[in-house]
Amino acid sequence: MSKTYTTIKLTKQQQTAWITLNRPKKMNAINATMRHELSEALDKTEQDNNVRCVIVTGEGDKAFCAGADITEFQQLTQETAAEFSRKGQQIFSKIEASSKPVVAAINGYALGGGLELALACDFRLASDNATLGLPEMKLGIIPGWGATQRLPWTVGVAAAKRMILLGDSVNATEALKMGLVDKVVPQNQLKAEAVELAQRLCGWSPAALKQAKAAVNSVTKTFLESGLRKETDLFALLFSEKETQKRIQSFLGQGNKKEI
Ligand code: COA
Repeated sequence: MSKTYTTIKLTKQQQTAWITLNRPKKMNAINATMRHELSEALDKTEQDNNVRCVIVTGEGDKAFCAGADITEFQQLTQETAAEFSRKGQQIFSKIEASSKPVVAAINGYALGGGLELALACDFRLASDNATLGLPEMKLGIIPGWGATQRLPWTVGVAAAKRMILLGDSVNATEALKMGLVDKVVPQNQLKAEAVELAQRLCGWSPAALKQAKAAVNSVTKTFLESGLRKETDLFALLFSEKETQKRIQSFLGQGNKKEI
């Protein structure tokens, strides 16, 4: 695990691997390099027999991850948007398919792709300053890395529609109430809480944990596979709309992001 990354950090503490998204000045937004490094780190942790649990978090005290790097949207066409969606989905599906439990330690904003990443994890712990949301509507698009499928399975169709169709974010307390996160803790206790959860998980038989995860995942597997394909098609379609690029440009240019 000694490789140096530029957009993430991969460290190990006892039997737990920490993957830290590391672009704090950009709210840990996921760019192409981060997608590549995250994917590689997930492969490494999966292959490392000494790793029994993985924790994903964000560097700094403001953001877990503010989603896909929006500057990349400017270049997308319907065709490349489909590829963008598929690739991102594949990385997050690695988390779901991993034989090891993955905990999201949400230390601030989890927006768009950041929330989609957290949704692919097995557990979600949130700090009390966390804000979770899917602001894609503001950009004229829909989530393309799994949220249209995993969110309804997690919080129910009605709550998922409130978040996706209205683009309304929720705070940590609301997220807990709706079952979007498992626990909320003060920000300075988030890491300790994640370690405690990881230690509990590391105490179980790795084989039993692996099969437990696979068994529960089988509830949604078939639906997710076809739903994710649908999501990609619909996400990509929106890149043929003039309004999409207008909204993306306006977002990047005028910073209407403060509404979130
Ligand atoms: N993609 C690219 N850059 C992003 C980003 C994203 N998703 N989220 C934040 N950034 C960048 C900002 O452009 C800014 O860069 P700059 O310092 O070079 O201008 C930097 O990160 C800090 O963000 P800023 O907006 O100044 O911080 P804030 O505290 O005022 O607001 C957020 C924080 C998260 C509310 C705001 O950054 C935001 O709305 N981000 C976009 C979230 C989003 O729509 N995600 C879904 C994408 S599909």
